[in-house]
Amino acid sequence: MKNEEEKSIKITEIIPRRKFIQQGIILAVAGSAGISLLESCSKKEDKKQDGDKDKDKEKDKGKDDKGEEDVSPPEDLMREHGLLNRILLIYDLGITRLGRGEDISLEALGNAAGIVKSFVEDYHEKQEEDYLFPRFEKANKLTDLVKILKQQHDAGRGITAQIIQMAKSKTLKKEDSQKMVRLLSDFNRMYRPHEAREDTILFPELRKIVSSNEFDSMGEEFEKNEEKQFGKDGFESMVDKVAGIEKQLGIYELSQFTPKE
Ligand SMILES: [Fe+2]
Ligand SMILES: [Fe+2]
Repeated sequence: MKNEEEKSIKITEIIPRRKFIQQGIILAVAGSAGISLLESCSKKEDKKQDGDKDKDKEKDKGKDDKGEEDVSPPEDLMREHGLLNRILLIYDLGITRLGRGEDISLEALGNAAGIVKSFVEDYHEKQEEDYLFPRFEKANKLTDLVKILKQQHDAGRGITAQIIQMAKSKTLKKEDSQKMVRLLSDFNRMYRPHEAREDTILFPELRKIVSSNEFDSMGEEFEKNEEKQFGKDGFESMVDKVAGIEKQLGIYELSQFTPKE
């Protein structure tokens, strides 16, 4: 009996308290055969808990300590470029319809330009100007590119202000319609290479010129600024607004862009 007690004491020493309580009943009958049963149960329990941890890890993947979605600064900016691209498609429709002498809702064009102003120019580009460009300048990297990107932000703001102004009219006279086509074309012609250069050249370099701490805190700052300017789910609400304009103009259904045989 003494032997059995000694074994029991040793077991309590090697099994953590939580697991020991869980298997108290088994322990009560543990003889030499019981020990191997106990060990096997303990291993199973370890495996199960490791599995649970893996599942939790999987669930929490991409989330920060507060359980919020973890989005890196380039990913954040590139999603915003995706939103801008959808507006460029709306502008493309404006160019086509007005260019053919057809009508397009000026309200829809004005709303799209309003999103460019509030979300792209006053937020997205502001983030690039406040957080990215100065870091590249300080690191003396891609300074020629940054200079052009800044000039293009300014040029874009000038075009958007004119589109918003013209879209306030009820109808456009022929020459105003041509001017609108020119403004929309100039905007799209500039922003497609602008975004593409940022996505392929500027953003991939960012991680190389800032520490990982700075990189992470920049992502948090972006998130904070977005919430401050547009409330929680600011990006998602902008996507919904753009989708609403697409529906109004009949270009929401993605399948319509698939070539027909
Ligand atoms: Fe930009
Ligand atoms: Fe950008």
